Amino acid sequence: MAQRQVVLITGASMGLGHEMAEMLARDGWTVYGTSREPENYSTHGWRMIELDVTDGASVRACVDEVMQREGRIDALVNNAGYGLSAFAEEATVDEIRAQFDTNYLGVHHMCQAVLPIMREQGGGRIVNISSLSGLIGTPPSAHYSASKHALEAYSQTMRLEVAQFGIRVSIIEPGLTKSAFRENVAKPAEPLAAYDDLREHLREQGVRTEKLAHPTVVVARTLRRVLRARSPRLRYTCTRLDWLGAHLICWLPEGVMHWLVRKVFGL
Ligand SMILES: NC(=O)c1ccc[n+]([C@@H]2O[C@H](COP(=O)([O-])OP(=O)(O)OC[C@H]3O[C@@H](n4cnc5c(N)ncnc54)[C@H](OP(=O)(O)O)[C@@H]3O)[C@@H](O)[C@H]2O)c1
Repeated sequence: MAQRQVVLITGASMGLGHEMAEMLARDGWTVYGTSREPENYSTHGWRMIELDVTDGASVRACVDEVMQREGRIDALVNNAGYGLSAFAEEATVDEIRAQFDTNYLGVHHMCQAVLPIMREQGGGRIVNISSLSGLIGTPPSAHYSASKHALEAYSQTMRLEVAQFGIRVSIIEPGLTKSAFRENVAKPAEPLAAYDDLREHLREQGVRTEKLAHPTVVVARTLRRVLRARSPRLRYTCTRLDWLGAHLICWLPEGVMHWLVRKVFGL
């Protein structure tokens, strides 16, 4: 009988990570999802374990637990993340550090722990959940966008470096997706009054555009496509609209793109 493939998905207590864990478990994968508070969540058909991606000891304990139970990790999905909803000027250095600690260094922690295992196995898949914000920055998310841009560069470079070991690195770039992401955003401790009008305008705009968010299942289906591909590409979007957005960002002249962003955001 073929051995069940083992996947480790960070941040699986809710949102995209939870949807991906459920779908892969139904597909027959042996799934390990993570949360900083695993005791708060019950799962069916897959196991939740403790992980804080900002804590090296927690990362080692999590990866060790999967290895003790399964002896292999075929795929790592770096999904854990949050948004810092602060204008570029108003975020403190500590707030920016915390954003990068989770969204960027958290992924690095995980890759450093899992890559030796995949090298030893002679292969594996790493899928990093970026965002369309990894391609273009939009207010008030300069530092979130910067963390995802960093993740894009990291993933693209690592893909070149680890291909020789049979390890395939891909990025998924979801657009607006229905989850608790917006409720979970971190706010600046010292908001600047100078940005209050723009903040309120963007908040109202956010309420209107919320309707356009796609369901988490489209991201899970994209992950399934990446994991089933014999030769996965570097980048994947999740819907036709996101695909169009990603291509416009890359191909439109900068002035036209910025005009379009100002139109869309009513700036
Ligand atoms: N929703 C969107 O519109 C959207 C669009 C593009 C990209 N994304 C990306 O998709 C990913 C998931 O977002 P989501 O929408 O599913 O958000 P969410 O519903 O808020 O879920 C975030 C997940 O990340 C985990 N997490 C946060 N900080 C962590 C840490 N330090 N260590 C370990 N786990 C941590 C949380 O787990 P616990 O709190 O249980 O520990 C939770 O499971 C993020 O990387 C986000 O940037 C989201």
